[in-house]
Amino acid sequence: MKSQLPSEFRQRFGAPPESFARAPGRLEILGNHTDYNEGLVLSCAVTLETCFAARRIPGSVCTIRDFDFREDAEKNFDLNDIERPVKGDWSNYVKGMIQALRRRGFDIGAFEAGLRSTVPLSAGMSSSAAFEMAAGFALRELFGIELSNEEWALAGQEVENVYLGLKTGLLDQFSSIFGQQDALILSDFRKIAVLRTVPLPPGFAVAVINSMKKHDLVDSEYNTRRADCEEAARILRGIYPEVKTLRDVSPEQLKKAKSALDERVFRRALHVVGECDRVRRAVEFLDKGDAESFGALWFESHESSRVNFENSTPELDYLVELARSVPGALGARLSGGGFGGITIHLVKAEDAEEYARKVCAAYELRTGIRAQYYLCAPGAGASSEKIGN
Ligand code: GLA
Repeated sequence: MKSQLPSEFRQRFGAPPESFARAPGRLEILGNHTDYNEGLVLSCAVTLETCFAARRIPGSVCTIRDFDFREDAEKNFDLNDIERPVKGDWSNYVKGMIQALRRRGFDIGAFEAGLRSTVPLSAGMSSSAAFEMAAGFALRELFGIELSNEEWALAGQEVENVYLGLKTGLLDQFSSIFGQQDALILSDFRKIAVLRTVPLPPGFAVAVINSMKKHDLVDSEYNTRRADCEEAARILRGIYPEVKTLRDVSPEQLKKAKSALDERVFRRALHVVGECDRVRRAVEFLDKGDAESFGALWFESHESSRVNFENSTPELDYLVELARSVPGALGARLSGGGFGGITIHLVKAEDAEEYARKVCAAYELRTGIRAQYYLCAPGAGASSEKIGN
């Protein structure tokens, strides 16, 4: 993709780019909705990525071209007029990043830019975070911005939280930056740090199967789930004063406090506390080379999403059900925010293609929807470079 983008850029803008950045999408392997509860997550970056090339220009008007699009492919905005997002405008991600950098004291001049991406949009693989990080890193090279990688991830999260009003956690941007080739990362969102890397079981890959369906209300559902988690933590703090977030609650403590919580809020908490526990157990299983038990946790996680967190859909449930009948998968679950989008399936690398085809065929037969699949290996985190003329 890199070789293509600079030449497309040159064709469109009549000069070569000065900086080039790439940032991958991510997969949440285990640890669903734990990030904003300051919990643990096992995730990885993938080899699907967004590339962003840019060069400085005089004046205050920026132009961005998406070379993947035929329509609505080009956006212009004036740097003096980006305080608020424009509804439905894809360049909001770049404008939001400029605002986040300004808040950190950096002056961003005008630029023209081009992008391409292989991350599926709105599927649960963090196409937005990949976009934010690729744009941010390309601007870093153009304007000499020095920030730690943690701070870059926080700037990306601010695009969502402050500019766009979505109360998402840090997982997406963090994984896009800190992802490692051929390894999962175990992250702690209280410390905002990668605790360690953990390889997938040898010979295994992740088949990503996109249900191609998404609720309309994803954003508001996400925010209400988050509010339920905060409510649970607040009540539990009254019983266990050391509790700051759900991350601090053990499965036993939660069980004992059940009667203090509203039934729905209890189920939300059960999911998050269960996920933190499953992440810990997953690392133990992976260290022992126990792929089967690791896979079983994926099924458990999905079941908890379905019943407790209610962030699944009939389509996601069916894809996970197929993982139990189509031979080859050790586990499957929804991945990411939920309410539609992708499922991930733990499969032997050599059988992954055949497995994914069979699942997609069965899915189409039942739902009439043609699912897309991707065979993913963990990829490297975001990077950027200056390009000499
Ligand atoms: C979305 C959010 C993340 C995280 C996941 C669920 O991807 O952007 O911050 O909360 O959902 O784990």
